[in-house]
Amino acid sequence: MKFLSEFLIGAATAAHQVEGNNRNSDFWAMEHMEFTSFQEPSGDAVDHYNHFEEDIKLMAAAGLNAYRFSIEWARIEPEENVFSQEEIQHYADVIRCCKANGLEPVVTLHHFTSPKWFISKGGWEAAAAPADFAKYTRYVMEQLGSELRTVCTINEANMGLQIASLMERYKRQMMARMAASKSDGTVQVGMNMEKMMANQEAAARETQSLFGTPKAETFTSPRTEQGDAIVCEAHKAARAVIREIAPHVRVGLSLSLHDIQAQPGGEARAAKDWSDEFTHYLPTIQDDDFLGVQNYTRSRVDENGILPTPEGAELTQMDYEFYPQALEHVLRAVAKDFPGELIVTENGIATSDDSRREAFIEGALAGVQRCLEDGLPISGYFHWSLLDNFEWQKGYSMTFGLIAVDRTNQTRSPKPSLTYLGSYRG
Ligand code: BGC
Repeated sequence: MKFLSEFLIGAATAAHQVEGNNRNSDFWAMEHMEFTSFQEPSGDAVDHYNHFEEDIKLMAAAGLNAYRFSIEWARIEPEENVFSQEEIQHYADVIRCCKANGLEPVVTLHHFTSPKWFISKGGWEAAAAPADFAKYTRYVMEQLGSELRTVCTINEANMGLQIASLMERYKRQMMARMAASKSDGTVQVGMNMEKMMANQEAAARETQSLFGTPKAETFTSPRTEQGDAIVCEAHKAARAVIREIAPHVRVGLSLSLHDIQAQPGGEARAAKDWSDEFTHYLPTIQDDDFLGVQNYTRSRVDENGILPTPEGAELTQMDYEFYPQALEHVLRAVAKDFPGELIVTENGIATSDDSRREAFIEGALAGVQRCLEDGLPISGYFHWSLLDNFEWQKGYSMTFGLIAVDRTNQTRSPKPSLTYLGSYRG
């Protein structure tokens, strides 16, 4: 099975997870705290900053025709209002390298990490956030806009609300003296709940001395409703800047979306969860050119909330249920309400068994194909992730990559799934 030649078949990364040494970012600071909730610091990551050409050539050799990566705000604006021409040049080189190798660059402006100074100003709960983000966006678009055709402003704009509800669930479980069920943590990003809840007071003191505020409102902090509105405003402000400077660019954001399945009695709960995750963002994204759909698994809910994974289900390293059908369900669900183009900006599986990754890709892409046959406006699929990388608080323990990396010498070893993914290109 192959897609049409204009359909984008690619892989995705995020700057902090692959580049290494993102020293001016909030995450770098948190990773190095004494009372950190991170399993290990990102360090050199997989040194994609210096190996991008090799990585892009591996994608091209495997047949991929697109690469989604993020530009790191903390590199571009390491101090407030101080912009780095050298770092812009780095990303200009990455874009040029993509094109020279026949890959369409799809750029994300914000993928979880922010500059440390921005957090000291109140981060993603501060009223100034949209203007700060728009200023950074302006700088990037002025320099790189003419080279780009597709820009995602914010990765998983709904992540803060998902984390807030995960924390609530976790606290309730603790209070009920229940052991936190491992398979209950289906928020789509590596979080160490126990570490996060432990040492909270000491961590607050350390945060105060590091950021000048007792609570660091990073992008993956539990978000308030007000903070959620601020993130939506930041997206709209960036979108306006992009349209002003580079009107040819297609602009959108991405959302973390579960295939929420109501079990008997769970219909109202499922509808509420879908509204929190997706529907309530419709006013924000209705004028976007595309929506980035990011899906990893399903969640089944009854009237009390999310159920554990089914008995005997195959689980990934993240303890998510192996369920590639979820992508098709989510694409069909969002297409009911969102009229624009859909791009699968992330979909993937953490596993040490690469044949299961191939099976996952096969299942997911069969679903995408069925959606296309039914006329859904899907224009690309980006697998998460190109490389085994830094899975946030869970460090390097999760292997999502189409390419393995020996971090002692940064040697790349493409897995069979990389060429398998490339074989779908039309
Ligand atoms: C995020 C990635 C993350 C992946 C796997 C997504 O939610 O965008 O940064 O690595 O999930 O957890």
